[in-house]
Amino acid sequence: MCLTIPAQITEITGSIATIRDYNSTKKINISSLPQAKPQDWILYATDVAIKIISSEEAFEIIDLLETQHPIIPESELSNQYKEIITASHFRKLEKNEIEFLLNLTGSEEQALYAEADVIRKTNLKDFICIHGIIEFSNYCQNDCAYCGINKNCTETRYRMTPQEIINSAVNAVNNKGYKLLVLQSGEDPYFTDEIIENILVEIKKAAQVFIFLSIGERPLESYLKFKKAGASGVLLRFETSNQDLFNQFHGNGKSLTNRLNLLKELKQNGYFIATGSLVGLPGQTMADLADDILQIDKLANMASFGPFIPSANTSLSEATPGDPNLILKIIAILRLISRSARIPVVTALETLGGSTIRKQALLAGANALMFNLTPAKYRQLYKIYPNKYFEEDTLWEKYGLYKSEKSYEMLSERLEEELNK
Ligand code: 5AD
Repeated sequence: MCLTIPAQITEITGSIATIRDYNSTKKINISSLPQAKPQDWILYATDVAIKIISSEEAFEIIDLLETQHPIIPESELSNQYKEIITASHFRKLEKNEIEFLLNLTGSEEQALYAEADVIRKTNLKDFICIHGIIEFSNYCQNDCAYCGINKNCTETRYRMTPQEIINSAVNAVNNKGYKLLVLQSGEDPYFTDEIIENILVEIKKAAQVFIFLSIGERPLESYLKFKKAGASGVLLRFETSNQDLFNQFHGNGKSLTNRLNLLKELKQNGYFIATGSLVGLPGQTMADLADDILQIDKLANMASFGPFIPSANTSLSEATPGDPNLILKIIAILRLISRSARIPVVTALETLGGSTIRKQALLAGANALMFNLTPAKYRQLYKIYPNKYFEEDTLWEKYGLYKSEKSYEMLSERLEEELNK
């Protein structure tokens, strides 16, 4: 599942190979590749050789991963910046310190990204996990003001059949190598608990995969049934931790307190929680975002922050979009705070930020990617925001998805570690 960095073998003695990756030399166990010889390029993950690759392939991957941080002279960094960064190694950052970091520009902003990148690499090596998302229904009973599939929008609606959902998921796992899938929909009561349970059971029967549900709020009892049926995670954003803003943008009886309580209960009951906020909502302040970041430490194993993108047919269609750079700073701050958290580059950021943003986000502390696996005929209809679709990223899929039992075990251990922290 996880992409690792390439390295070149310099020497082999028995089952131990000395390898050189792009920034260090180390010894790893090479017994999984008996045919490997000095000068070969390999991919390796946590000290285990995975496969031999060509040098062209290796350079392509190195290019994707290579650190490109400018060297910032210390004289360009303020004392306050240095104090906060140092403090982040020893204690939790406070709200005013997070706000300071959110407001960084210029050299200090670049230095923050470099810092986060080093922390990611130190704590998580170069694992970059690829998650797949299947958007199975765009029906929604809610009227969230920002959302392009809210119940008042005039979008064409679709629902995948349970069999289509199962087939898409099983195909992604068994044929492409995905190990973690998100099943997402609007809040759509058509999919009763029983239907969802059945879908989960059938997917788990046919494929070894971690399933995240992203289907909105349901009672805890429903989620407990889903867990029994095979769901491991829940992706549910709290959207903003500012009560007034939350109320301004959410109707249909939604309450921030209920949302946060549900997330807490789900976590207590062993769910892996992915949550976060929508960045750039009209009226949102840096202080609000600092609060959002502080919530993550309490609630989440995975942080999902994305920029707001104005959506046609909504009351916010003319509003200003979120700032992709602000998301990069949030990713970096999250990395300082939660050293081993899973932080994905979300698709809304890729939509707004253009072709370089994925790499920038990975170099600012992110360690997971979200690929869209919704069948082509439905994709264009899932318009939470005006979406730009990416060609399937074959290079990433090719190297990021190991189709082996071992890669599932590696991910499983990692999720277990993250859950038990
Ligand atoms: N722009 C960006 N993200 C949005 N979402 C909903 N509407 C928008 C929008 N206009 C996000 C919400 C929700 C997730 C599924 O999609 O944060 O939790």
